[in-house]
Amino acid sequence: MNIDTLRNEWEELSREYTELETCNRRYIELLEQLHSHQQKCFNEIKHQRYRMNQITASLRQFKGPFDPEEKEKVDDLQRMTLKRKAQLHEIEQSLPAKSGRYLQIILGDVNVSILNRNDKVRYKDDYEKFKLILNVIGLIMAFFNLIFNYRALELTFIFLLVWYYCTLTIRESILKVNGSRIKGWWRAHHFISTVAAGVLLVWPQGEHWQLFRLQFMYFNVYISIVQYLQFGYQKGLLYRLKALGERHNMDITIEGFHSWMWRGLSFLLPFLFIGYAFQAYNAWTLYKLAYNPPDAPWHVSVMCGLFLLLFVGNMTTALLVVPEKIRERAKERYRLLSMGKSMKLRKEMKNSASDLDISSSTNVVPEPEKKEN
Ligand code: COA
Repeated sequence: MNIDTLRNEWEELSREYTELETCNRRYIELLEQLHSHQQKCFNEIKHQRYRMNQITASLRQFKGPFDPEEKEKVDDLQRMTLKRKAQLHEIEQSLPAKSGRYLQIILGDVNVSILNRNDKVRYKDDYEKFKLILNVIGLIMAFFNLIFNYRALELTFIFLLVWYYCTLTIRESILKVNGSRIKGWWRAHHFISTVAAGVLLVWPQGEHWQLFRLQFMYFNVYISIVQYLQFGYQKGLLYRLKALGERHNMDITIEGFHSWMWRGLSFLLPFLFIGYAFQAYNAWTLYKLAYNPPDAPWHVSVMCGLFLLLFVGNMTTALLVVPEKIRERAKERYRLLSMGKSMKLRKEMKNSASDLDISSSTNVVPEPEKKEN
């Protein structure tokens, strides 16, 4: 190889670099356009909400008696309002959202928005899998702790609980930024569980701990089994959600989604209520331990309060789930419809973009083979 060959190669590389620069400039232009389109969408959404609120307020003042034709028009407007709210919520899912205070403290000022509905579903799927794996590990460790009474094993298990619940709070905050309707209590539940696991970690080994230890391990075994059932339920919902973006007749899958959800809930709820009764029982045992044997460490009363809080919060929230689902049936239908349409659209766009890529790459004149020296 002589120096001229190297110069030629360098010039060829420089030509390719100019192409790269052009491509990058185009990319930056698109990013700028993306930003201005995002702003436009935000403004339009605000406008839609403002006008819709005005129409709803006027509709509320519009009092009867209605003739049947007028009643039908009023019902129609209410239906369209519900549908538009779901559509706007779905449009928001393709736009960036600001992180909450908790995420900003932990992660700093970083954008955690996922701008594609299909990727959001995938992230949720990943969250459910993470919970499943950690639950299986937790179940095995709780089981070993039932057989062996080693402090190191016990502390490893409790430390795993602290880390697991802490991680859940972060993942759930990211899900929330990305439009999840997870209730405040379930998130609070995981914050409280982190605190509870922290208290357990510093609870000194002594008579009180030994009296509570076995019951606590049995409780963990039961909770792991219930969480496995919860995983089955959420996985089934996610599977049907993915199917919404694939089928042609969406009504059929929405019906399928609902009937599966009700069947899943009626199977799961009794197990959950037994778990909550177990939490109340834990609180009761700890309450008795706070007085007898004497000189109980502070951890006993704090854990008693935390289990009671978890019992009350879980019970109330789980009891409210069913009536709320019945009340918001129509809203939920429009939500699923908009979600399914958006997933389908994104898939079609992705497919047509990759088709375009293939056809443009097949139209390119093949490069002459480079000489290998
Ligand atoms: N943890 C995390 N996310 C939860 C959740 C929980 N416990 N409960 C509901 N969600 C999520 C749902 O996945 C859904 O997410 P999405 O908006 O991204 O689709 C959103 O919150 C709204 O859910 P919702 O429709 O209100 O309820 P659901 O049908 O998904 O689930 C229950 C209802 C009762 C089955 C569920 O809340 C549950 O399993 N609760 C029990 C939790 C518990 O007590 N754990 C301790 C065991 S003793």
